[in-house]
Amino acid sequence: MATLTFHGHSTFSLETSDGTRLVLDPWFTGSPVADIAAADLQALDYILCTHGHQDHFEDAIPLAKRTGATLVSTFEIVQFAASQGVENVHPMHIGGAHRFPFGRVKMTPALHGGQVHGDETGQWTTVPGGFLLEVDGTRLHHAGDTALITDMQLLKGQVDVALLPIGDNFTMGPEDAVRAIEFMEPSVVVPIHFDTFDLIAQDTDRFREMVGDRARVQVMAPGDSLALD
Ligand code: NI
Ligand code: MN
Repeated sequence: MATLTFHGHSTFSLETSDGTRLVLDPWFTGSPVADIAAADLQALDYILCTHGHQDHFEDAIPLAKRTGATLVSTFEIVQFAASQGVENVHPMHIGGAHRFPFGRVKMTPALHGGQVHGDETGQWTTVPGGFLLEVDGTRLHHAGDTALITDMQLLKGQVDVALLPIGDNFTMGPEDAVRAIEFMEPSVVVPIHFDTFDLIAQDTDRFREMVGDRARVQVMAPGDSLALD
């Protein structure tokens, strides 16, 4: 059984039954909602980044350098991180899957911006993505930042727990997130990328009503954990 912990915005940590520690889209430093600081993460094995925007990538390079964790992301983001001195990297790309010791990771499409935070040259611009993880028998999808895309129909029947942006403005809003749920048919939905700042404030009670019986909406506050089983 894996344990998923929310750290606000789109940031999660995940500990699998074999003791592997992952962090997804690490944004602690400067996050208005993070429950911990990056320094509180003592040991880390993998860092997964859906895309290169600051609010998903801010702490990836410093954490990778300090902990020796392997950075998993698109080829371009990983190349940029390597150019900044990150030693352990695993490049992937959209549509590709790889079986790591802790489980399987597949990169899924997202429709969003591709700038890589910290890249002054623009040469590492990438295609943003999401991650479909299979860990300890649970299929967990982190959608990253994305618009509603019909490609999500391809995930139908493949997702148990969906981490879905609902904040609107930069990503899908609640209405399109409901359609994404209709496309993917997950059992559990955890809203992400909302309430970090006023521009993406949302009413999760209303969202739960909108979702209805399509899925169970699990609203996680920063610091909350969810057992995946
Ligand atoms: Ni973004
Ligand atoms: Mn974002």
